[in-house]
Amino acid sequence: MNEVKQTVSPHLQEMLDRRQRLMGKAYRLFYKQPVHIVSGEGVWLYDSDGNKYLDVYNNVPHVGHCHPHVVEAICKQAQKLNTHTRYLHELVLEYAEKLTDKFPAGLDIAMFACTGTEANELALRLARAKTGASGMIVTDHAYHGTSWAIAQITSCYETSEKRGDNIVTVPTPDSYRGLYAGDADAADQYAGHLQTAIDTLAQRGHRPAAFIVDTIFSNEGLPTVPRVYLAKAVEIVRRAGGLFVADEVQPGFGRLGSHFWGFDSHGVVPDIATMGKPMGNGYPISAVVTSADVIEPFQKGSHYFNTFGGTPVACAAALAVLEVIKNENLQAKALETGTYLLEGLKELATNQAMIGDIRGSGLFLGIDLVRDRKSREPATIETERAVNLLRQHGILIGSTGQYDNILKIRPPMVFSKANADLLLQKLQTVLQEIR
Ligand SMILES: Cc1ncc(COP(=O)(O)O)c(C=O)c1O
Repeated sequence: MNEVKQTVSPHLQEMLDRRQRLMGKAYRLFYKQPVHIVSGEGVWLYDSDGNKYLDVYNNVPHVGHCHPHVVEAICKQAQKLNTHTRYLHELVLEYAEKLTDKFPAGLDIAMFACTGTEANELALRLARAKTGASGMIVTDHAYHGTSWAIAQITSCYETSEKRGDNIVTVPTPDSYRGLYAGDADAADQYAGHLQTAIDTLAQRGHRPAAFIVDTIFSNEGLPTVPRVYLAKAVEIVRRAGGLFVADEVQPGFGRLGSHFWGFDSHGVVPDIATMGKPMGNGYPISAVVTSADVIEPFQKGSHYFNTFGGTPVACAAALAVLEVIKNENLQAKALETGTYLLEGLKELATNQAMIGDIRGSGLFLGIDLVRDRKSREPATIETERAVNLLRQHGILIGSTGQYDNILKIRPPMVFSKANADLLLQKLQTVLQEIR
């Protein structure tokens, strides 16, 4: 693949100016040199100059950009009917059945919304109604969405509003660079912070309603979580009357290869699970899945209506996604390709000292870049350079973590071993260049 041209053309500059003028400055673009994508197919994205990029970043087009089966399902249903969910519709029920079939017994109710934020917000309402409590516990670098209530539990950003005293954070359970990295009893030590959080809430007059966790801890930097940490943490929360909410927006739908849901990889069954991003392959749909027992107090006291949540077209898209995952065996392939890539990254680490740690599962991997392997000092500036250089080499990738020094590998699930080879080759070039 040729190196992508670096100059910002007058046309792009004009678009940049227009965008700022029309949309304001709160919206951020990726890359020092923004990309103007005009089409996509499978794992490939194409810009307006005809350059081709390998998409190593996007998890929303879960089964590949513009997958024909999903596109056809959307078009077919859009030609027939698209309404809100206040009418009966077979497709919506069929999808609710197929989705809840993917969950452990008892988690058999699905409520639909449009975004991960909305799903998380609804989950918190269910938890508050069920427990009669208001305390929320989250990790210290979590992302759960954009609304006012969810911005409160999104600890990775400051909010312009004051965070409520019903919200308490616990340290991210990181085995590589966290508080108890390397300790034999790290799971117990990290889990112990849940009791501290519950005690803090009590001092402030709150009981815990929910402990909410992104089960791959993606924004926290995809740490290797000490085994049984989550089970221990959840047990402490449940003992105090709180619920466990598994945010599956990122890890869900087979991405981890080993399991269909992130909570499964920790051996914990949640009280509520939320999901979004990959569900409709880009067509907005999200969901909350829970049990009859958890939902009961909420439905006694509240109505729920979400105009665009779970429309027939959204459900057609989401059903098609489940079909493609099954028909193309994408979960097993994610495991196979991800393991192949992981091995390749380990090999790369033997001659690239900047690679401090490699972790993750299936097609969700993180490369922790460090200035020095011994001190593990995060290579934040170098990571930003790597992301921008890779973009110039035709690879779209992002970074994550508290220090923004983790290269995040999270491509569409149709990513192949040949794609992995290309990524490894370009990583080698770019890391060499940075060194
Ligand atoms: C773990 C997690 N939860 C929730 C959300 C919010 O989803 P949405 O942007 O669809 O509101 C995100 C979005 O990035 C996320 O990563």
